[in-house]
Amino acid sequence: MFDADIYVARRTKLQQQFKHGLLLFIGNADSPMNYADNTYHFRQDSSFLYYWGIDDPDLAAVIDADAGTHTVYGNDFTIDDIVWRGPQPTITERGAMAGVTSAGTRDDLAKVLADAVRKGRRVHFLPQYRADNAQWLDRLIGIRVDAINHHASVPLIKAVVSQRAYKEPGEIREIELALEVSHDMHVLAMKIAKPGMYEREVAGAMAGLVESRGSQLAFPIIFSVHGETLHNHDHGNQMQAGQMAVNDCGADSPLHYASDITRTIPIGGKFVGPQRELYQAVLRAHKKALAAARPGVKWMDVHLLACRSLAEDLKAIGCMKGDLDAAVQAGAHAMFFQCGLGHMMGFDVHDMEGLGEQHVGYDPTVTRSTQFGLKSLRMGRALEPGMVMTVEPGIYMIPTLMDKWKAEGKFTDFLNYDVINKFRTFGGIRVEDDVVITKTGSRSLGKPIPIEMADVEALAG
Ligand code: GLY
Ligand code: MN
Ligand code: MN
Repeated sequence: MFDADIYVARRTKLQQQFKHGLLLFIGNADSPMNYADNTYHFRQDSSFLYYWGIDDPDLAAVIDADAGTHTVYGNDFTIDDIVWRGPQPTITERGAMAGVTSAGTRDDLAKVLADAVRKGRRVHFLPQYRADNAQWLDRLIGIRVDAINHHASVPLIKAVVSQRAYKEPGEIREIELALEVSHDMHVLAMKIAKPGMYEREVAGAMAGLVESRGSQLAFPIIFSVHGETLHNHDHGNQMQAGQMAVNDCGADSPLHYASDITRTIPIGGKFVGPQRELYQAVLRAHKKALAAARPGVKWMDVHLLACRSLAEDLKAIGCMKGDLDAAVQAGAHAMFFQCGLGHMMGFDVHDMEGLGEQHVGYDPTVTRSTQFGLKSLRMGRALEPGMVMTVEPGIYMIPTLMDKWKAEGKFTDFLNYDVINKFRTFGGIRVEDDVVITKTGSRSLGKPIPIEMADVEALAG
């Protein structure tokens, strides 16, 4: 945990934004794989970690904005629990580590909330993404499970986003700890990925490295020669010389901050044919985006700058044609770049996505697009110092999309389908780095990981 005063300061700042009501935080429970006692790896809720720091299941916490009290709720281990799971600090001791001086049981929480509901006091809570927590809330405050998220508190969501979006120095240190592991995962993969190996052998080696560092994966590893499938979690292919593997992976820091880095590896050691031009195209877009990212600049505009850069290079190799400004405005480049340039990162790899991207990535000055491609941009609003962003341009050659758009006669002013058709087995290329927005620009986080074509080839050869 961070020092208790960090959690006290965060909660105090939050409380100051509310004159009345209860601010309720529900922590996560263990989640069963196949029966109750055989559980997935436990992951605490990120907003719970941010304000209360306690990394244990079955907790909740309340700030009473009228009374100014902060209380954690959970049940102490019984002797039966201790026999099976070992001794644990009491709820009072756990709360004290986060500067909380008041503690109660889960039954106490039920009484506090029932009393609040009876008196018509507002109970502010965040959107729920786990069914068991939604059910618990239903029992606690009497809102039906399927309606819970319609009643999530927009003022609380906005208040939480207004704090979590700006990373403190200690949070940046945590992200850089996660990035140390990422660095070693990527270097390992570049060194060992060879023709004839199965993707799972490389993915497994990276997962083993993460475990051996006492870390966890921040999200399931993407390691695939079918990098054109953006979130491809299948590792079943045997890799052939001349293919490229997209390696998108990240680790969890000791306090559960994420890293999220992508590199593309030439299987056999050399990028070949059009892979070379298109790798440079993605890298150029990446560098332009990094140079453009600074406070006051809308992330939407950085995204469009990267799209324009990709379109120029795709025109140079004959896949695109015509007026590129018009092409990008119409969304024709989304044949090759179907997603957003990047997203906020912090506790969550897509930071705060559970709170709703509309409140995290957009504001009244930037409306989320409904256009294919642009609609997947998770953030459009202006950058500000302290935000941590991923920068992840890519080119993805998706045969099903080629066939669909060609059959529909889409964007024939901007797309050369005869040339595009030659890329059916090309796969995908992505590079991704994590940056913090500074007062004047951006700073790449973590130890540099080879990204220039020659440096990747030197390790992969
Ligand atoms: N690793 C998932 C992403 O880059 O968004
Ligand atoms: Mn990624
Ligand atoms: Mn990412």
